Amino acid sequence: MDINSIKAQIDSEIGNINSPETLEELRVKYLGRKGLIAQLTGSIPGMPQGERAAFGQEVNALKNKITFLIDEKHMGITGNTTESPLSSVDIGLPGISQELGHLHPITQVTNEICAIFSQMGFAIVEGPEIETEYNNFTGLNIPLEHPSRDVFDTFYLKSPDSPVQLLRSHTSPVQIRVMKSRKPPLAVVVPGRVYRPDAVNVSHSFMFHQIEGFVVDENIKFSDLKGALEVFAKGIFGKKIKMRFRPHFFPFTEPSAEVDISCIICQGKGCSVCGQKGWLEILGSGMIHPNVFKNVGYDSKKYTGFAFGMGVERIAMLKYGIDDIRLFFENDLRFLKQF
Ligand code: DAH
Repeated sequence: MDINSIKAQIDSEIGNINSPETLEELRVKYLGRKGLIAQLTGSIPGMPQGERAAFGQEVNALKNKITFLIDEKHMGITGNTTESPLSSVDIGLPGISQELGHLHPITQVTNEICAIFSQMGFAIVEGPEIETEYNNFTGLNIPLEHPSRDVFDTFYLKSPDSPVQLLRSHTSPVQIRVMKSRKPPLAVVVPGRVYRPDAVNVSHSFMFHQIEGFVVDENIKFSDLKGALEVFAKGIFGKKIKMRFRPHFFPFTEPSAEVDISCIICQGKGCSVCGQKGWLEILGSGMIHPNVFKNVGYDSKKYTGFAFGMGVERIAMLKYGIDDIRLFFENDLRFLKQF
């Protein structure tokens, strides 16, 4: 069969095709391995040398034309092209989305607390987790033999040279650092990790987070402490909560107080969360002890100040009703994704 009759034949045959199956048969007949085009190509080597190139070009043009006609027909029948890159893609399939992470709940609560104090004019300062024994204890009026050292006892680092170093057991030592390096007026909050040799259980961990805060200036009074803590507590737990100050002892403050809020679960009536007391302890506080001022070289006749310290895990647990501190450190996504 020659080129011209094949051309005429495909033109008439393709008009009658109306199913993908018959179209495939047609494709095999013309373009298949043993099809008409292959037969024409196969005849080239037997042709006189001078005619081969021109004939080859004509066969190629015919092959392209047939391919085009078949594709066009295929599109007409199925609404799809045979060669379209989209033909092998299910465009209805949902895409692979990239999951966005978010801040850890402890970081979120830390930021929230710092933001409240920052609005009141407090600066945010960080200190090192490896501290000197002096800043962690002695400078804060906790002498070597004092029994209250037990409460804040911590991990000591082997240091052949003095000064003795340790993992800080509270963020209070940053008071000493800031007071020594700056002059009043001071209003500072200090977020950070602290360490204690506690066995891990529902309410204890060898590592947790604290926020220390303090203000030093002339004429700072206990009422300034109350005012600042009330803004903080209402900002975190809601405007309806009540606060109370209970006398307590801390070596670095005098007078000292523990601060409670009315139970956010039972509103003070008494429930299992507050142990039927109606109150939840949230932090320790007081007026900075004159000995602390003496240790940093401040005149305690001229300056007064207040300080407070809180555990971030405790605040987060109360705020979100979490009953096990270990959840914060296990990094189970089922827990973390809820924040
Ligand atoms: N440092 C104390 C602790 O870790 C918390 C604290 C209590 C800090 C009273 C203070 C304060 O500044 O005045 O338990």
